[in-house]
Amino acid sequence: MTMTPRLRNLALTAHVTSSVGWFGAVAGFLALAVTGLTSQDAQMVRAAYLAMELTAWFVIVPLALASLVTGLVQSLGTTWGLFRHYWVLVKLVVTIFATIVLLMQTQPISYMAGVAAETTLSSADLREARISLVAHAGGGLVVLLVPAILSVYKPRGRTRYGRRKQHESIRSSGDTAHVEGEPATNA
Ligand code: HEM
Repeated sequence: MTMTPRLRNLALTAHVTSSVGWFGAVAGFLALAVTGLTSQDAQMVRAAYLAMELTAWFVIVPLALASLVTGLVQSLGTTWGLFRHYWVLVKLVVTIFATIVLLMQTQPISYMAGVAAETTLSSADLREARISLVAHAGGGLVVLLVPAILSVYKPRGRTRYGRRKQHESIRSSGDTAHVEGEPATNA
């Protein structure tokens, strides 16, 4: 079930833009979270938390889901497969983990936005919750670096299943020069 080169490039473009866009959106979110925590200007603090809610719901969550779905398409639609290479498997696990944490964070984000809309926050109000938002955004950036780095380096290392599939493919084609599972180019 491999994609044609044209379709693969289209799907890869969607995957890279949504995945790297996710990273960029979290960086913007972090800037807002730091502003919300440290600014002395009440208007600025309110604006930051309101903008964080919008960014989370309308940018970060859709990009995270798009990254996951397009990643699955890239895996299943190419000979990389989903369970054949450790780098793909680790990306899958890290992305699912990051998405779950993100979805759990939407509640505290909306709560903070609600409070900011209705009251004027002093720097001591809800301090733990505000620090937690900064920490989650910063941690999220670090975690999202893992799939980004793995994608570029694509370290060798096949899973047991991947090795079995590779042997089956060599045996059935009788062609040891062609090793399935490592598409060299996107063209
Ligand atoms: C935040 C999460 C992710 C980031 C930042 C990310 C980033 C990238 C980037 C930059 C590439 C292009 C690499 C290249 O062409 O040299 C890529 C390709 C790829 N990604 Fe992801 N990815 C993410 C999530 C996932 C997930 C969840 C999967 C699998 C379930 C996945 C599977 C793949 C595969 C198989 C390719 C190779 C596609 C090909 O060669 O046609 N990615 N990813």
